[in-house]
Amino acid sequence: MTGKITFTMIKPSAITAGFTGNILLKIEEGGYKIKALKKVLLSKEQAGHFYDMHRGKPFYEELTDFMSSGPIIAAVLEMENAVDSFRTFIGATDPAKAEEGTIRKLYGKNMGENAVHGSDSDESAEREAGFFFSFLERY
Ligand code: CMP
Repeated sequence: MTGKITFTMIKPSAITAGFTGNILLKIEEGGYKIKALKKVLLSKEQAGHFYDMHRGKPFYEELTDFMSSGPIIAAVLEMENAVDSFRTFIGATDPAKAEEGTIRKLYGKNMGENAVHGSDSDESAEREAGFFFSFLERY
């Protein structure tokens, strides 16, 4: 059974570089319905909580420093088979390995500054969407 929603964040470096509009346009043109959207400045502790599954990994400190270094844009997206289709749509975690035309290839710089986050499972999508949005904020 595959879910209808996934969760994404536009990362601080992509926002600073002025790619917000291009990324949101690409997402909508890709057929994803934006169910919820907000701009948020996470504390390091909040970023750590969001990425709790990576706690203890070598990149965890750098990741949580980066994700709390400036505002992010959080969104819940709807489409059939949303998690898997969006992961393909944004490209590989490392922009250097991402397919041509994907968001990470177009707007990512490196493994950390890879433009956008995408949920890795239906369970993660629900947890991550719930981290940022209440039921009343999702239309
Ligand atoms: P994201 O989809 O947001 O999920 C976890 C993030 O950790 C990932 O994108 C990368 O930006 C970052 N990261 C940094 N180094 C690594 C690594 N070696 N493996 C996986 N993710 C990494």
